Amino acid sequence: MKALEGVKILDFTHVQSGPTCTQLLAWFGADVIKVERPGVGDATRKQLVDVPGADSLYFTMLNHNKRSIELNSKNETGKEVLTRLIETCDVLVENFAPGALDRMGFSWERIQEINPRIIMASVKGFGPGKYEDCKVYENVAQCAGGAASTTGFLDGPPVVTGAQIGDSGTGLHLALGIVTALFQREKSGRGQKVLAPMQDGVINLCRVKLRDQQRLAAGPLKEYSQFGEGIEFGEATPRAGNDSGGGQPGRILKCKGWETDPNAYTYFITQAAVWKNICDVIGAEEWKEAEGYATPPERLDKLNEIFGRIEEWTMTKTKFEVMDICNPLNIPVGPILSTKEIMDDDGLRKTGTIVDVEHPERGTYVSVGCPIKLSDSPVEVTRSPLLGEHTTEILSEVLGYSGDQLDEVIASGAVGTPKPMAAE
Ligand code: COA
Repeated sequence: MKALEGVKILDFTHVQSGPTCTQLLAWFGADVIKVERPGVGDATRKQLVDVPGADSLYFTMLNHNKRSIELNSKNETGKEVLTRLIETCDVLVENFAPGALDRMGFSWERIQEINPRIIMASVKGFGPGKYEDCKVYENVAQCAGGAASTTGFLDGPPVVTGAQIGDSGTGLHLALGIVTALFQREKSGRGQKVLAPMQDGVINLCRVKLRDQQRLAAGPLKEYSQFGEGIEFGEATPRAGNDSGGGQPGRILKCKGWETDPNAYTYFITQAAVWKNICDVIGAEEWKEAEGYATPPERLDKLNEIFGRIEEWTMTKTKFEVMDICNPLNIPVGPILSTKEIMDDDGLRKTGTIVDVEHPERGTYVSVGCPIKLSDSPVEVTRSPLLGEHTTEILSEVLGYSGDQLDEVIASGAVGTPKPMAAE
């Protein structure tokens, strides 16, 4: 049994933010029915194509464990089918541009009329307000949510991060909103609207930077490297390079091989509790008790010197040797792993976070499995659906269309040209 078994999701999502949300719900056992425009489908199917003719990795890696129905939601018969799906499903998830669902004739009021128990969950770029009508992609959200202004180095421009905190991050927020609304429905018997604006999701993830914004009123942020460098703080939280975001100073330091390997680096945290161990490891025993070094507050204006000294040591070791030496001493360090190293990691494969998936068009590809592990709801990653692969199955098994009625829906052109059932 899976945690969300029996929950039906009408998945009207596309691109990244919405699909990551419904993929998680599918991994937890929900029946996710992805509605796609006939002949076109989710735009990502044909974006960044690496295997000609096959669905792209962009699509396959975001849409595992789902079923696909082709459906033109602007055609009259298509609207009837969509209405039946809304009647049948527990949750409708969408991340269209603002107003698109209303323009199709499916406002929240109309959706509630069709099914008062349904939960309608949306990702939008911005919440209600002056930007609510804007279309938004990942990096816009990173910029509007405070991530870009606080990422990068002090002497450089704002930088966006490779972690898709605007899209996948908001997908996660939305998934939590959906399961919470499902939980409340158990008691209230009613559905509700769930909104996860991308800007708000990024702001939530930048919470500590807004903490620092307020701390500026009390003086310089002493754990930021710029404090020790004597650079004045401005009116907003500055970019802090690789400084740690918390109370334990940290940096990215070079390791053996850094001259040729762009990822021969380690993150090194000078956690106060293990300061003496750090001094021993790097051969700076004199710092253990020395005035100006012995306590964390004293060290804050000397971070460049301290990390410079630690780096002299890390440069003599590989990033994995640093890990092997520091871990037993409780010194928190972390190798800078490349995407290649992550994909080759046996441990991550054992836990199902990195998986091999078979696909009829592209053969075997590597994907990221479910990052959340439930002991009673194991995840089996199955491939993403081909466009309209389950159209007939959904019309007949989920909606109960058969005989002439089924033929009429197909003849209307609302569902493209369905493939025969059980194509596997
Ligand atoms: N049948 C018929 N029409 C369909 C359809 C279907 N099955 N599925 C989608 N469409 C239509 C929509 O109704 C819309 O038509 P309209 O413009 O006449 O109202 C049209 O396709 C395009 O949808 P839209 O959402 O505007 O796509 P886009 O490619 O222009 O914009 C985004 C893409 C991501 C910028 C936009 O959807 C958006 O801002 N979404 C919210 C924020 C978000 O999730 N961003 C991150 C994406 S990773």
